[in-house]
This record gives sequence, structure tokens and C-alpha cells, in this order.
Amino acid sequence: MATVFLAGGAGYIGSHTAVELLEAGYEVIAADNFCNSSPESVRRAEQITGKTIRLYDADIRDTRRLAGIFQENRIDAVIHFAGLKAVGESAEKPLLYYRNNIDTTLSLLETMQQFGVKHVIFSSSATVYGSENPIPYTETMRRGVCSNPYGWTKAMTEQILEDAAKADPSLSVVLLRYFNPIGAHPSGMIGEDPCGIPNNLMPYITQVAVGKRECLTVFGNDYPTPDGTCRRDYIHVTDLAKGHVKATDYVLQHTGVEAVNLGTGTPYSVLEIVEAFERVNGVKIAYRFGPRRAGDIPEFYANADKARELLHWTAEKTLDDMCRDAWNWQKQNPNGFRDSE
Ligand code: NAD
Ligand code: WQD
Repeated sequence: MATVFLAGGAGYIGSHTAVELLEAGYEVIAADNFCNSSPESVRRAEQITGKTIRLYDADIRDTRRLAGIFQENRIDAVIHFAGLKAVGESAEKPLLYYRNNIDTTLSLLETMQQFGVKHVIFSSSATVYGSENPIPYTETMRRGVCSNPYGWTKAMTEQILEDAAKADPSLSVVLLRYFNPIGAHPSGMIGEDPCGIPNNLMPYITQVAVGKRECLTVFGNDYPTPDGTCRRDYIHVTDLAKGHVKATDYVLQHTGVEAVNLGTGTPYSVLEIVEAFERVNGVKIAYRFGPRRAGDIPEFYANADKARELLHWTAEKTLDDMCRDAWNWQKQNPNGFRDSE
């Protein structure tokens, strides 16, 4: 079976993808500098599957280090998760974001070229559609104007990969545009483990539920949506991870570039998420309304047809599954992976 190299594989989505790839029969190798993760996530992925993952403590920007890894292993495909992802921080430290997110891409592509590795999947984002495109977002739409440097790193990386594939027709690239991944592996052994105050909605809710934060601030209740709060396409991280397995099957068999949305196609509002979390888990989430957050748009969700047609993948889990599994992970690991380090 083919061997897949996960750059940034110790992170939230990488660790869930490792589990699904192993369960589908792929061999998995990972490298991470743990700037936003812990090696414990990879150990747990091994425990869940009963299989081993060769894990390197390495900065993906370091081409010498990468060459060593590619020399030691016969790598068939690369999944590029390695990036910084905090939208607000990217506006404060744009150079850090451009340096990290673009350099990881260039180093990976150069090393792939050196070792003749032709298959790559990139963690892109719905953010590349910008705010001007109509919803639902469809892959035939042009990339839009991003509202922050993080988003631009995703748009630029897509462009770099497209140019690389144009220059080398034997290259095979899948750009996976994630919508809003939430939830955790149903075992509760791996999940999202943000450092400091969570930027994203679901980890904030679970930290309120576990008593680490007092109250959720709902950013704005005067949007042109049914209940006035923003609507997003939340997707269970295990569904998302399975989408990577299908994308790996695909990328190994084709050449050229395909952008594919990974979403459910159904949006939920902030208040619907809070309501579902409370109902499914029998806990109360204190919340108050605050001002809008800069850069938020009222609503976006995926047209998920292409993923179904091209990758034979559809999200299967419900919002209740997402809420239950997010809470199961947080309850079992109130301090994330830190207790086990
Ligand atoms: P994450 O922070 O948990 O995972 C990213 C991993 O990359 C971390 O383990 C981090 O330590 C590692 N990393 C960063 N820079 C590195 C470097 N220079 N060398 C080695 N390792 C490095 O984030 P995630 O949620 O798992 O996201 C994975 C990818 O998906 C990211 O590229 C992110 O931008 C993208 N994405 C995430 C979301 C989301 O909502 N979580 C949505 C769309 C796209
Ligand atoms: C969801 C909704 C907030 C926190 C971000 C990135 C996007 C992609 C996914 C990487 C919004 C509201 C949130 C809180 C709130 N990431 N909210 N109170 O902004 O849709 O997408 O993550 O690529 O690029 O922008 O996700 O979870 O931050 O917010 O009311 O404390 O929850 O306003 O409506 P977002 P999110």
C-alpha cells in the first residue's frame, strides 16, 4: 500500500487524517515542529488504530531536513497541513504568516521535485472564495479578495501549486477547501487543542462547558440571517479526514489540479450550534451578544457536489454528532494533550 507523508501531521486535522488513512490501509509518516500541537496526538492516533506512525520533529521549511526524511522513506503522496491558522494573529504578524505558510509549501515542492514525488494534497480553505462570491461556493468560481493575510497565504499557495502543475504535467494536485471543521474522533482520544484563548467557536463553547471560560461572546446578532447570527458550514473532523483518504485515492491515480470543497452544504447559525450543544450534552452554555467581529461575513456554505462526483465522498455525520464528540473530547481532556506530555 502507498505511503503518505503528513506535513503538519500532529495537528488537529492531521492527526484525524492519520487515523483514517491507517484504517484505510495506507502507511503514514508525519513531520511537525509542534508549534501548535503535541506529539501526543500522534501517539494517540497509533493507539486508536493499533498501527505505527513514523514521526519526525522537523520544520517543514528546512529543506535539508526534508531531504533526509524523503531519503529514508519511499513517499508516494504528500498532504500539506503545515501552516499557521489564526486569522486575527495573521493581521498582526503578516510576515510570520507569509514566511511560514509560503516557505513550507516551497520547501515541500522543491523536495518532492528532488525525489520525484508527484502527488500532493493541500489544506486550503473556503476563505479563498473571499466575500464577493455568491453562496453556496462552487469550485468553478474565481478566488476572491481575502480579508486577512492568513487567507491570502491559502490563495497564494493554491496559485503556487497551480503554476507548479502547469510546468510539470506529471504532477497531481488536489486543493481541499475546508469549510468549518469541528468535533473530534468518537473515541475522545484526539481532538482540537488550541493554545490560549480559542479563536474558533466550538473550542470556545467546549471550554465554557468545562468551566475554563465564563461566557461565550456571540459576535453580532444583527446579521441578515434568520436569527441574526452568522451561519457557517460546520463539518465533522472525522468526515473531513475521510475526505482526505478519498482525495489520496484520487490524487494517486490522476494528474493535473483539482480544487474540491469539503463541506456538508448545510449552514447553521451560532445560536443553533449553542442550542444543539446544550441539548445533546445536557449542559448550559452561558453566552452574551457582543459586537460583530471584523472580517466576518454573514453566511457561507459549500456546494458539495464536486466532492461527491469526483472523490465519491459525502459528509455523513450530523450536527448532533459534532457537538457530542467535541464535548466527549473536552470532558476527557480538559487540558487537551498537556496532561499527557
Ligand atoms: P493545526 O494548527 O492543529 O495543525 C497545523 C500543524 O502544522 C500543527 O501541528 C503545527 O505545529 C504544524 N506546523 C505549522 N508550521 C509548521 C512548520 N513550519 N513546520 C512543521 N510543522 C508546522 O491546524 P489544523 O486545524 O489541523 O489545520 C491544518 C491545516 O488546515 C492548516 O494549514 C490550516 O490552515 C488548514 N485549515 C484549517 C481549518 C480549520 O478550521 N481548522 C480550515 C481550513 C483550513
Ligand atoms: C464561526 C462563527 C463567528 C467565536 C475560521 C476561518 C476560516 C477557517 C475556519 C481556516 C462566526 C462566531 C466565533 C466566538 C462567535 N479556518 N463566533 N464567538 O470565522 O467561520 O472561520 O475558521 O482556514 O478561514 O476564518 O470560524 O469558528 O472562528 O467562527 O460568535 O467566540 O462563530 O463570528 O460567525 P470562521 P469561527
